Amino acid sequence: MKAELTPSHAQPEPLEIVPMTAADIPDVLRIERASFTTTWPSDAFYNELTTNKLAHYYVGRADGKIVAYGGIWVIFEDSHITTIAVDSAYRGRKFGELMLLRLIDEAIERGAAWMTLEVRESNAGAQQLYRKYGFTTVTTRKGYYSDNNENALVMWAGNMKGELYRQRLRALRSRVG
Ligand SMILES: CC(C)(COP(=O)(O)OP(=O)(O)OC[C@H]1O[C@@H](n2cnc3c(N)ncnc32)[C@H](O)[C@@H]1OP(=O)(O)O)[C@@H](O)C(=O)NCCC(=O)NCCS
Repeated sequence: MKAELTPSHAQPEPLEIVPMTAADIPDVLRIERASFTTTWPSDAFYNELTTNKLAHYYVGRADGKIVAYGGIWVIFEDSHITTIAVDSAYRGRKFGELMLLRLIDEAIERGAAWMTLEVRESNAGAQQLYRKYGFTTVTTRKGYYSDNNENALVMWAGNMKGELYRQRLRALRSRVG
């Protein structure tokens, strides 16, 4: 009998998450432009990587290419997710969740207790992901997004140093592998 080349029980390739380097920027921009209606200035990622000491950026690789990225700023006990996205062809495979976990881990390792982000009011999928990780909406910034004047929800999570949050993280991590 011939061996089955792609058995149905084959696990999808896991996401390999590593720090972003300048060489990754073209791939990151490709995903960014396909994911967001307003994008960062072309030199923003380069400046974040080279001059912002508070910034920590990661890329996720699968199938030999970059398929996800994300970044945070950590300022003492506060951290801020600046961006996170997954290549549209790779969504729904927990890659966004794995990237968020990496960012949360990084923030906790650097001493953060709190994490915040802004998300479009219409971005229900991302909000669902954030709620899963304990983020709640604390306020709304009216007309925050200049392209369509959409409101931003400002979400916060914490206390990330507390045992309750660590337990939640352990439980969620065990489910994404
Ligand atoms: C948001 C984003 C990063 C999620 O990444 P993803 O790899 O598709 O999501 P995952 O497979 O990791 O999903 C993990 C969890 O997120 C939530 N989620 C993700 N996509 C969702 C959707 N379309 N609808 C509802 N919930 C969703 C769910 O809680 C899901 O957990 P579950 O499967 O146990 O229900 C991705 O959709 C993306 O890149 N979107 C465009 C860019 C963007 O909006 N970034 C966020 C800016 S604030």
